[in-house]
Amino acid sequence: MTDTVDDSTFETYFSHAPAGVDISALDRSRIPRHISCIMDGNGRWATAQGLPRGEGHKAGIVSLREIITACVRLEVEVLSAYAFSTENWSRPQAEVNLLMHLFAQTFIQELPLLKRENVRVVFLGDISALPAETREVFERGLAETAAHTGMVLALAVNYGARAELARAARRLAERAVAGELDPAQIDEDAVAGELYTAGLPDPELVIRTSGEMRLSNYLLWQVAYAEFYITDTYWPDFNRWELVQAIIAFQQRDRRFGGLSKKEEA
Ligand code: FPP
Repeated sequence: MTDTVDDSTFETYFSHAPAGVDISALDRSRIPRHISCIMDGNGRWATAQGLPRGEGHKAGIVSLREIITACVRLEVEVLSAYAFSTENWSRPQAEVNLLMHLFAQTFIQELPLLKRENVRVVFLGDISALPAETREVFERGLAETAAHTGMVLALAVNYGARAELARAARRLAERAVAGELDPAQIDEDAVAGELYTAGLPDPELVIRTSGEMRLSNYLLWQVAYAEFYITDTYWPDFNRWELVQAIIAFQQRDRRFGGLSKKEEA
């Protein structure tokens, strides 16, 4: 990937829609505040083309770049993406090493783009446990984008939702033991405030590529009322147009949050 200047606007970035995508069906006043992507299928995409799995991860990074730009143009508040789970350490060491190196390399390359687009990067997960090369680059990105006021890019790296919830429980217990918190005051907001996503709106739309119908230990608390869009497309083939289709599908859903639908209320 190169750091080419992208001067596109919404109109230019979403011009020339392919057949089957009706961009006029998109309601720009009802874009989900937080879109979350479970980026799956990099390995299968590569294998299907007779390429090593690493080539799938490289192609996946190109897709992520496109989705970041698309979400900025759509004025999404938060884009989160599941890049590496606590369970992914069990992959062959060579693949783990390659991924960690790719993360570091990509991040250095993409930092100018993120800065130009006023994106603030945050990490979900324990990045202190990452190899030094990756950790240092991520910490630099955190510091250099901390004051940005545009879209938040939340990258889940070394992330697991159960570990996140256990950590939140531990932190609340520590505060209670220290006399800072009355256990009777521990409510949903108190738990949410100890999660990696503290201060961010919950995902409204979760997209999972490659047809898998599971959450894989991802944002278990935060997706309580999210809408899911599952596509058979492998992540390296997921692009701005399928993102638009996912958002249009989201806008057609009847979100009830446990209540009645608007039709039933009428
Ligand atoms: C899942 O495909 C994808 C990953 C484990 C890695 C995804 C990461 C990126 C696209 C880049 C993120 C970039 C930064 C800077 C954090 P898979 O390997 O599970 O595919 P498979 O299910 O087909 O085997």
